[in-house]
Amino acid sequence: MKGWTASDIPDQAGRTAVVTGANSGLGFVTARELARRGARVVLACRSEARGAEAAERIRAQAPGARVEVAPLDLADLTSVRAFAAEHKGDRLDLLINNAGVMALPHRRTADGFETQFGVNHLGHFALTGLLLPKLLEAGPGARVVTVSSFMHMLGTVDPRDLNMERGYRRWVAYARSKSANLLFTHELAHRLRAAGARLVAAAAHPGYAATNLMSAAPKMEGHRAKERFMEIGNRYFAQSPEQGTLPVLYAATGPDVRQDDFFGPPLQGLWRGSPVRSARAKWTLSDTAGRGLWAASERLTGVRYEALTG
Ligand SMILES: NC(=O)c1ccc[n+]([C@@H]2O[C@H](COP(=O)([O-])OP(=O)(O)OC[C@H]3O[C@@H](n4cnc5c(N)ncnc54)[C@H](OP(=O)(O)O)[C@@H]3O)[C@@H](O)[C@H]2O)c1
Repeated sequence: MKGWTASDIPDQAGRTAVVTGANSGLGFVTARELARRGARVVLACRSEARGAEAAERIRAQAPGARVEVAPLDLADLTSVRAFAAEHKGDRLDLLINNAGVMALPHRRTADGFETQFGVNHLGHFALTGLLLPKLLEAGPGARVVTVSSFMHMLGTVDPRDLNMERGYRRWVAYARSKSANLLFTHELAHRLRAAGARLVAAAAHPGYAATNLMSAAPKMEGHRAKERFMEIGNRYFAQSPEQGTLPVLYAATGPDVRQDDFFGPPLQGLWRGSPVRSARAKWTLSDTAGRGLWAASERLTGVRYEALTG
């Protein structure tokens, strides 16, 4: 991937992508760059107003972009089902499971799940399962890309306490949800391989990119000093969202992307530069943990992957 940039994205004309959380940060850049290369992109956003504003910005920055906004709240399985029902007739080549929340104070989703596990993992698990028939029908190059984080290294999924009922620690909850993103990719890749499917499941992380991710929790708590601290971090230490998005775009469109690949910026480049295959915690490659998380996710969401029974 040496020297790979967004201008290396191959022509996407005739392809359709769904990008979750496309109104902000990495999701916005992902949607814009795919649209710039000719894809029709569905911006799946929890706020239709923020989605519409993002669509306008994309059209201004990438003239001729084919973007549409559709409501999707990953913290509510009714919304996930409604989104999938609305799009079940559409062609679908790329699903970018990007939306996320980080280190929020303890909250529950509409379905009663701890929010970071619910939004970052379960919502995307349900969405992918419901959209799977269209992804399996797509031609060569179809991909499911799930955005994880290097912070997954801080904690593995606890199968006996998925919702952290035994004591909530917000950073541990984030790390676990990002480990769940990788375990999900691992098990999905295994099932796709077993089914002989063309669809590829891969994952990516941006290193540290300046987005709204860090300020969401301080804003929720009205903690102005913490918000300011996060802003300073973004300004002086983070790379741009454009740079941070490269591993996601590579996983979605790059050549030679294999099942269960995980891309990120190069560590030796101080987390800047063209994407490389990233290190990952060994627990995210555990078949047993992957199968266990999968079974629990099917039970909790009620979404079964009929075409990929493992
Ligand atoms: N930035 C980094 O340094 C970094 C590092 C590692 C991993 N990541 C991962 O990158 C992904 C994108 O984050 P970002 O950095 O681009 O942050 P961001 O700018 O805050 O974007 C997050 C997106 O997710 C959406 N979202 C949050 N809750 C949602 C829900 N319930 N339903 C649907 N959409 C929801 C947000 O919508 P609203 O705008 O409406 O809130 C926003 O569009 C996340 O998965 C994050 O874990 C980021």
